[in-house]
Amino acid sequence: MAGNWKMYKTAKDTRAYFEKFLPLVKGCSGREIVICPPYPNLEAAVEDTAGTGVHIGAQNLYWGKEGAVTGEVSGPMIHSIGCTHVIIAHSERREYFNESEQDVTRKTKAALEAGLTPIVCVGERLAERESGQTASVLHEQFQDGIGPLAPDEFAKIVIAYEPVWAIGTGKTATPQIAEDAHKTIRNEARQRFGEQLAAAVRILYGGSVKPDNVKSLMAIEEIDGVLVGGASLDPVSFAAIVNY
Ligand code: 13P
Repeated sequence: MAGNWKMYKTAKDTRAYFEKFLPLVKGCSGREIVICPPYPNLEAAVEDTAGTGVHIGAQNLYWGKEGAVTGEVSGPMIHSIGCTHVIIAHSERREYFNESEQDVTRKTKAALEAGLTPIVCVGERLAERESGQTASVLHEQFQDGIGPLAPDEFAKIVIAYEPVWAIGTGKTATPQIAEDAHKTIRNEARQRFGEQLAAAVRILYGGSVKPDNVKSLMAIEEIDGVLVGGASLDPVSFAAIVNY
């Protein structure tokens, strides 16, 4: 159950959030909780969640370890402050920063090398869905971005299916749409990496997940978890999602 705060909250807000959130998820078992705040709040988040089982992740990384790359942050830097996860190629990064499938591969490899679990995002745009291209978009994203990973690398990633038209729009994919897309992705994984790794990879659904729709999404066997934007900003609503 992962939360992506996007570009919201200061370090002070972060502290106030965990004060409310942690008691609400105490004792919750059988699920992994990850929260991805903006870079400047990562350290506060790691400190506040120490010993609680709640994991902290970044929302992006650069693929090199260090260098003259102004404004970028590397995997070893993120890992060194106690983060365990990193989101890769969120659709907002694909859209606003032109991240490509080649970026997906190199960022995912860099994250793994730094000891971070990558949450790799895929998903089609509205026009692509409406013109019946969903499966071919997912095929291309998988083949060109995730496909070049070695099997032992693929075994360590998490995939997030986030249809772009469902992000921040209040339009959740129906459980049927999400199930079909997850099956398409798992099928891609099967063809490239074999049955065992395909069955084991966790695929999260993201796009307008809320406390009142999480149960029907999580009831689908193909959906292994959720990646939540807006509703993860409120500690009470994200705790309700985690405890669905
Ligand atoms: P919303 O939950 O706000 O639709 O955002 C989803 C998302 O982009 C999570 O990464």
